[in-house]
Amino acid sequence: MKINIVKDSKAAGQAGYKLFKEQLDNGSHVFGLATGSTPITTYDAITASDLDFSDCISINLDEYAGLPGTHEQSYRYFMNQHLFSKKPFKESFVPDGMNEADAEIKRYEKIIEEHPVDFQILGLGRNGHIGFNEPGTAFDSRTHKVALTESTIASNARFFDNEADVPKFAYSMGIGTIMDAKAILLEAYGENKADAVQKMIEGPVTEDLPASILQRHPNVTIILDEAAASKL
Ligand code: GLP
Repeated sequence: MKINIVKDSKAAGQAGYKLFKEQLDNGSHVFGLATGSTPITTYDAITASDLDFSDCISINLDEYAGLPGTHEQSYRYFMNQHLFSKKPFKESFVPDGMNEADAEIKRYEKIIEEHPVDFQILGLGRNGHIGFNEPGTAFDSRTHKVALTESTIASNARFFDNEADVPKFAYSMGIGTIMDAKAILLEAYGENKADAVQKMIEGPVTEDLPASILQRHPNVTIILDEAAASKL
């Protein structure tokens, strides 16, 4: 694991942007993308740059089940807002939250099989989840339907009018799917991620802390701000 600790999330966004640039320069073509507040500074740096993704494919990690892409809290909507409307890709895939689970899982795994991910960006849940793979998810899992944990529902409630509106299920790439990416960037900022960061990097590799599996990936970069790195 390469670990890059910078002052704050703005500096981290610049560092993340540089990795995207390096990947593009080296011929990477398929980009695995993430949502959440963490990647926003990286996407901002990308949209402010002259990087050109119009010949590239993007594949997002996850989507809430039951939300259409037009819903303001759907991940498709988020991606349109923060990236695709400003930096279009040739084709952008996000799981379809309105599709029935079995059909959607099959469809999405086929997309990934046809477009193996060169570079995957990840955020980190406070409980160590990646994508929507909560603690206990099998390391060899593929795209699947996930029941969100209480803690994830509670921490995502800030984006909805009230907690009852937060979807209880999602479609997510599995941990095995994520580990197939040729290179991975994980970003984490803020003190409330410090415990998960410490366990991910220094703890045992265990399904109780999904991100700990990254210790076994041959090409991972972790970008942290000082607060998220404070327990290392
Ligand atoms: C959600 C997403 C994850 C994201 C995590 C952290 O659960 N499914 O992909 O990494 O939240 O979100 P944030 O970056 O807002 O802290």
